[in-house]
Amino acid sequence: MSEREKAGIYLHIPFCKSRCVYCDFVSSLCNPAHQQKYVDYLCRQIRLAAREYADSYIVDTLYFGGGTPSVLDNGQLAALGKEISRSFNCDIREFTVECNPGDIDDAKLQVLKDMGATRISLGVQSFDDALLKTLGRRHSAKDAIAAAKLAIKRELDVSVDCMIGLPGQTLQDAQLFADTADSLGIEHVSVYMLSVEDGTALKKMIDEGALTAKSDDEQADFYEFAYRAFCEKGFERYEVSNFCKYGKYALHNLGYWRRKDYIGLGVAAHSLTMGQRWRNPDGFDEFYAGVDSGRLQKSDLQILSEKDVREETVMLAMRLKNGLDCAEYYRKFGLKFEEEYAAAIAKNASYLDLKDGRAAIKDDYLAVMNSIVADFLK
Ligand SMILES: C[S@@+](CC[C@H](N)C(=O)[O-])C[C@H]1O[C@@H](n2cnc3c(N)ncnc32)[C@H](O)[C@@H]1O
Ligand code: SF4
Repeated sequence: MSEREKAGIYLHIPFCKSRCVYCDFVSSLCNPAHQQKYVDYLCRQIRLAAREYADSYIVDTLYFGGGTPSVLDNGQLAALGKEISRSFNCDIREFTVECNPGDIDDAKLQVLKDMGATRISLGVQSFDDALLKTLGRRHSAKDAIAAAKLAIKRELDVSVDCMIGLPGQTLQDAQLFADTADSLGIEHVSVYMLSVEDGTALKKMIDEGALTAKSDDEQADFYEFAYRAFCEKGFERYEVSNFCKYGKYALHNLGYWRRKDYIGLGVAAHSLTMGQRWRNPDGFDEFYAGVDSGRLQKSDLQILSEKDVREETVMLAMRLKNGLDCAEYYRKFGLKFEEEYAAAIAKNASYLDLKDGRAAIKDDYLAVMNSIVADFLK
């Protein structure tokens, strides 16, 4: 038998207690009976996925995302963890659960620890109560601080989400975020620039003039300011939107940027398995029907050509501070990156670092990586 590859598993938990004004993720409002049905089906889908993939992979990262996984009750969370470890060969290096700060207490953390979670990702967004209220968040700054402290005390790694470029937000708020994260001993921060999505309450408020969106220039200033504020506190920006201390990289997400295989289960979850990208249906009914059919339903199945794989490899690696490993690129594709992309490299010479066998976008230009990377897509 060929050597088993390492892979990650992502489970999508599409329930939230309330809807944040900016959010267009696939998620519906909490309903205990529906959540139980969903967890039962998700367990069945884990078994279906195992039939297809358990012999090919060793699962080394797990990520429960949403929606809000922390709204599941303790038994449901434990059942999902158990189903994965029963169905797959696991050698878990990192197991992250996204949590709302308002859901965290000692009992919840105990369940997370018991099921093997090593890390929580807290949807903090801001440490300013007025902004949290504008966003429709159901937690306060005090809740977020208490949740982070409790999780750190329980020896879980803690990552926090920070939103920037929000209507009414000041640069001081970004500074407050960096100061607070640092003083709490948080070692990972994901920084998201607000994207105003069609169909959201936020879009309506902006269109009606109740809130004022920041201009592109203001957004860019925010990103630059936040970048400096986190770096001054000792965080390393290792990916366009992700900062950490002491090498505490998000291993599951690093897998996405390095094109490691992952199996995404639950409504709307995406997968990359053996050169194929596919996703689960967005709707609950289609998802349930898929599981009832007894086979994994692969919507929008895309069988990647070698050119697709090469382009994805370059595009995703360029998001990383460390960029692309040119020797590995050669081993995989038999092509020298510097020769293959000579024209794009020459055009972007002042934005790129090509040294120690790696090709990376210089720190100062990572924020505008999209326009640089476009030249590498032929
Ligand atoms: C899918 S959410 C999951 C986390 C969890 N549901 C929560 O909000 O606490 C992941 C993160 O994406 C970010 N996010 C969601 N919608 C966004 C938007 N429209 N613009 C920018 N960031 C967004 C938020 O920071 C959020 O914490
Ligand atoms: S941001 Fe998170 S908690 Fe808020 S509605 Fe979206 S998924 Fe739910």
